[in-house]
Amino acid sequence: MATEANTILELDDIQSGVLRPRPTPYAATYIVLRIDDCKAGRELMRRLSAVVTSAANPTSPLADTWVSVALTYTGLNALGVPQESLDTFAWEFRQGMSARAKELGDAGESSPENWEKPFGTPDVHLVIVAVSPDTQRLEAALHRARKTYQEMRGITAIWRQNCHALPTEKEPFGFRDGISHPAIEGSGIPGTNPREQPFKAGEFVLGYRDELGGIQIPQPEALGRNGTYIVFRKLHQRVAAFRQYLKANSTSPEDEELLAAKMMGRWRSGAPLALCPFHDDPDLGADPRRNNDFLYGEDDPAGFRTPGGSHIRRTNPRDASIAGVARIHRMIRRGTAYGSQLREGVLEDDGVDRGLIFAFVGAHPGRQFEFVQSQWINDGVFFGAGEAKDPIVGSNDEGGDFTVPRRPVRRRLQGLPRFVVTRGGEYGFMPGLRALRWLAELQT
Ligand code: HEM
Repeated sequence: MATEANTILELDDIQSGVLRPRPTPYAATYIVLRIDDCKAGRELMRRLSAVVTSAANPTSPLADTWVSVALTYTGLNALGVPQESLDTFAWEFRQGMSARAKELGDAGESSPENWEKPFGTPDVHLVIVAVSPDTQRLEAALHRARKTYQEMRGITAIWRQNCHALPTEKEPFGFRDGISHPAIEGSGIPGTNPREQPFKAGEFVLGYRDELGGIQIPQPEALGRNGTYIVFRKLHQRVAAFRQYLKANSTSPEDEELLAAKMMGRWRSGAPLALCPFHDDPDLGADPRRNNDFLYGEDDPAGFRTPGGSHIRRTNPRDASIAGVARIHRMIRRGTAYGSQLREGVLEDDGVDRGLIFAFVGAHPGRQFEFVQSQWINDGVFFGAGEAKDPIVGSNDEGGDFTVPRRPVRRRLQGLPRFVVTRGGEYGFMPGLRALRWLAELQT
């Protein structure tokens, strides 16, 4: 059991995908399934429980392929989980993502009626993510896995998205991603910022004490314990529009790179402005011991290095002075790029769908994901910037504002377009391994 001073996480019961970062590079695929027959769904749970890896033992029974499984609210319902149990899950999860569109800024092109089907419908029941070091190994594993559900009547695969992480870990706008991860007490897996205190396990895993002293656990305990919530969103990135904006608002290629870095808070290499404010430093960007070792409060309270409005300072203000407490809004991210890259230097849109499958992991979808999306990304009040949204991922449908603190006068950019469009997504519950078996054995 969990104790406050010395948390013992039951790593052998927690899905590996919750706590362990993915290998680099990798190929991944998201598969969405619909369960039309609850007996078949339970049998699928049984088969999946044999292939999902635990955080204690990273060796996968599927050789080089790691599988994670999450169920939506309608998915738990389709398996026949009793209503009194369903009622104990987080409120946002029970609503489903499309019902939360207004709070998430999913309006206009991003609104659920424009999402890719089946998103925004009650058909999304089960999400399987398979990750492998390369496409060949992934396809071989999927070929074997496909047999499992194709032979089963009452289970239908309704959506699939292939994704990848490049050796450079660059996302489609060209920035290195996957740098900042929190440390979790009892996991034995280090975080990436030596100045950040490890978080109570209950922030990320259900059934343990969290930063506020509470323990969240859906009932019965056999189902809720060692599970967590995930949020996944297909986010289309307008790479050509982003490049055009940088060019139109800069005087030289160097100036473009500086503006891009000010918007992100990091240079494209991943090097943080906090540690190298004037020019990129690719060695620093690639060095995991140094590239996340910084705070804002003492060195840069006014944002002369890292603007308060930049993507990374908004989504994790660290020790900067803001309204509220930053620590209770931290999250684990497992973002993965999809679609081919837009060739270097091209400014015209080539019509290819590319972007990020954004994935959040955490025990509090409301105060973690939804709060960050609505209050920090799509509002600026928390750090005194009025309604200004995130310059890169904000829902800037009416032309956004972005301020770069500078001496002698700040630079204010206006008319920022929306660079990221939501194509769909859903909230999921990632059960522990024993809970997968509990689901398989449901009798109702
Ligand atoms: C297409 C959309 C997005 C892109 C291209 C993007 C890109 C990035 C990049 C390049 C980083 C810096 C690398 C790192 O620290 O790991 C980053 C950090 C981060 N992003 Fe995003 N992101 C996107 C959407 C989001 C969303 C929707 C959220 C939350 C709701 C989010 C939350 C974060 C957080 C928490 C960090 C870490 C900040 C830190 O600890 O310093 N991002 N993102």
